[in-house]
Amino acid sequence: MAEAGESHWWYRSTRLLLRQLIEPHLDRSPDGLHLDAAGGTGATGGWLTEYAPTVLLDFDHFALHVATEDHPGYRPIRGDLNRMPFVDNSFSSILCVTALCHRMNPDPGAIVADFARLAKPGAVVALMEPGGKRLWRSHDDVTHTGRRFSVAELRSMATSSGLEIITATGAYSFLVPAAFVMGKIEKNKAKSDVGRNESGLGGLLGALAGAERRLLKRFRLPFGLSAIVIARKPA
Ligand SMILES: C[S@@+](CC[C@H](N)C(=O)[O-])C[C@H]1O[C@@H](n2cnc3c(N)ncnc32)[C@H](O)[C@@H]1O
Repeated sequence: MAEAGESHWWYRSTRLLLRQLIEPHLDRSPDGLHLDAAGGTGATGGWLTEYAPTVLLDFDHFALHVATEDHPGYRPIRGDLNRMPFVDNSFSSILCVTALCHRMNPDPGAIVADFARLAKPGAVVALMEPGGKRLWRSHDDVTHTGRRFSVAELRSMATSSGLEIITATGAYSFLVPAAFVMGKIEKNKAKSDVGRNESGLGGLLGALAGAERRLLKRFRLPFGLSAIVIARKPA
C-alpha cells in the first residue's frame, strides 16, 4: 500500500470518487477536526488534511509514519478501532475505508455505532468497504479480509446507529465480472491486487472509473466491487 498509494489506478480513482461524494457535505471550517479511521498510509483519506487537521487512527506503526510524511496535516494515533480513545461529538467528519471488513474487527456494527457517537451533530460519516458477498478472491485472503458487505448491509449498520443516509451505492461495478472469474481461477493462490496492474490496463480501468464517477453524479448503483455509504449524524 505504501508503494502503490500514490500511483495505483485504484487509489487515484478512489480518492476522486470519495471527494466527489463527500466534499459537498463536508464541514470545511479550518477549526474542524476530521478522523481517518484505520486510515493506513493515507492513500484514500489524506486529502481531508487539506481542510482541517485530521486524526489518523491506525494499528500499524509503519503506516502512520508513511502517512504523516506524505500528509503533515495528519495527527497520528496508534490505536484500535474497537476501542477508540475519543470523547463524544469530537469530529467534523469521519472516513473509514476498507477496515470494517478486516478479521481484526469482529463486530463492524459496533464500530459504526462508535463513529456515530464520535461524530459531531451534522457531521458526515463515510464508509467504503469491499462489496459483493460472492466476490471473494485471493486478494481477500492476502489482505486478512473477514467479510465483504452488500450496499444494504452497510446502509443498515449506519441507520441502526442513528445515522441518516445521504448516499448508498455500489462502485467499481465494471470490475464485478472480472472479480468473479478471478475468484474462480485463483482459488488457493496467494495474490493481492495492490501490487499488480498499477496502470490499470494502460489507463483503461482509470477511464472506466471516470465514466462511472460521472454516472454516480446522477445515479446510484445497487452493487459493485465496493460498497459505499455516505451518512450524517442528525443535527
Ligand atoms: C486495507 S487498509 C486501508 C487503509 C486506508 N483506509 C486506505 O483506504 O488506504 C486497512 C487498514 O486498517 C487498519 N486496521 C484494521 N483494523 C484495525 C483496527 N481494529 N484498529 C486499527 N487499525 C485497523 C490496518 O492497520 C490497515 O492500515
